[in-house]
Amino acid sequence: MSQSVTFQVQPGGSLRGEIRVPGDKSMSHRSIMLGSLAEGVTHVRGFLNAEDAMSTLEAFRAMGVKIEGPVNGEVTIHGVGKHGLQAPTKPLYLGNSGTSMRLLSGLLAGQPFNSILTGDESLESRPMRRVTAPLALMGAEIETQENGTAPLHIKGKAGQLQGINYDMPIASAQVKSCLLLAGMYAEGDTTVTEPAPTRDHTERMLTGFGYPVKREGSTATINNQGKLTATQIDVPSDISSAAFFLVGASIAPNSDVTLNHVGINPTRTGVIDILRLMGADIEVLNQRSVGGEPVADLRVRSSQLKGIEIPEHLVPLAIDEFPVLFVAAACAEGQTTLTGAKELRVKESDRIQVMADGLQILGVDAQPTEDGMVIQGGSIGTGVVESHGDHRIAMSFSIAGLRSSGPITINNCANVNTSFPEFKQLATHLGLNLTSI
Ligand code: S3P
Repeated sequence: MSQSVTFQVQPGGSLRGEIRVPGDKSMSHRSIMLGSLAEGVTHVRGFLNAEDAMSTLEAFRAMGVKIEGPVNGEVTIHGVGKHGLQAPTKPLYLGNSGTSMRLLSGLLAGQPFNSILTGDESLESRPMRRVTAPLALMGAEIETQENGTAPLHIKGKAGQLQGINYDMPIASAQVKSCLLLAGMYAEGDTTVTEPAPTRDHTERMLTGFGYPVKREGSTATINNQGKLTATQIDVPSDISSAAFFLVGASIAPNSDVTLNHVGINPTRTGVIDILRLMGADIEVLNQRSVGGEPVADLRVRSSQLKGIEIPEHLVPLAIDEFPVLFVAAACAEGQTTLTGAKELRVKESDRIQVMADGLQILGVDAQPTEDGMVIQGGSIGTGVVESHGDHRIAMSFSIAGLRSSGPITINNCANVNTSFPEFKQLATHLGLNLTSI
């Protein structure tokens, strides 16, 4: 992939208008995985045509699943059934996508064939023991590199996995989902308990495909007795992509933006809660349910944000939105403190360090801590910042231009294509003065 995309944003302006951001990334991944394992033909609408979700799609094609599309967000998956995947003939390359790698490791552990999972430099530096350790307790055989990173060499152990009771040490939807997918191939019950609520799209979508998953409080239980029946999936817009405009329209004077058809699953709406605590003006309109997931239109208008102490229970519910929330904090009156967010250090980049570095270059008093950040709101200056190939960092600093005193240049932005290829087009449509150079 080319690493040479540089964004430049001119200062000021407002965001105004009505848009629909692309489909939810988490749900797009899961639609391909479960649709492939289903019996019958699954139709997906609203699929995210971006590199991460395409990594999952290509992986299943490489395992013999016929998948048509995406064309205008529509994908047709000819499911092969729970036991119908074929051995891939070469390593499955998953690009930048942690979700693909962690969920697939669980799914592939119980197959009757071996497989190898690889990724780009960022993905191959991210921790994988969080999945391989509990999978080993189930009887899986997965070899990582010495430091617990990919490539992962998975020995298929069809018919040999055992269910476990697992208390997750970290609040991770990827770990939970990985173990539930492995549990579909394990003898006895697999029960996963989470220390705090995390996104529950896997559980909801399994239910939508008719596969029994028991949910009681913070635990989810699955076994190998179910089957998946093809269905129709409507993927709502990704609240993690909407978040850039929730913040942008809040911080830019004279803004008024409506974001249509956004997924507002309560395990994902931490960004709305946090922004409202900061004084944001966000209306949740036309709430409805689409295919088992709550959806709404979000209207956001400018407001004077104030600094807050971010409640720790909201951290897993806004885990991908902190880069842009740090920009909101930089524009707020007073101090914002984030704690309990150590996980940010092992995302596509170390999002605590990378955001602190960039904000400091722009003259913001942003002090990184081990598990969060302390930001003094004030003014944003001008300068050249590094995204470190992290899509959400690149988009967050673009949004910072709405309140900066001069242009901001952001290096290494090609990976915006992993989650939100239309970002520049939609952002400029709303009024952001953003170009690629
Ligand atoms: C995801 C879960 C989250 C999130 C990631 C997508 C998912 O990761 O950061 O972008 O689709 O399950 P963790 O579960 O590791 O926190």
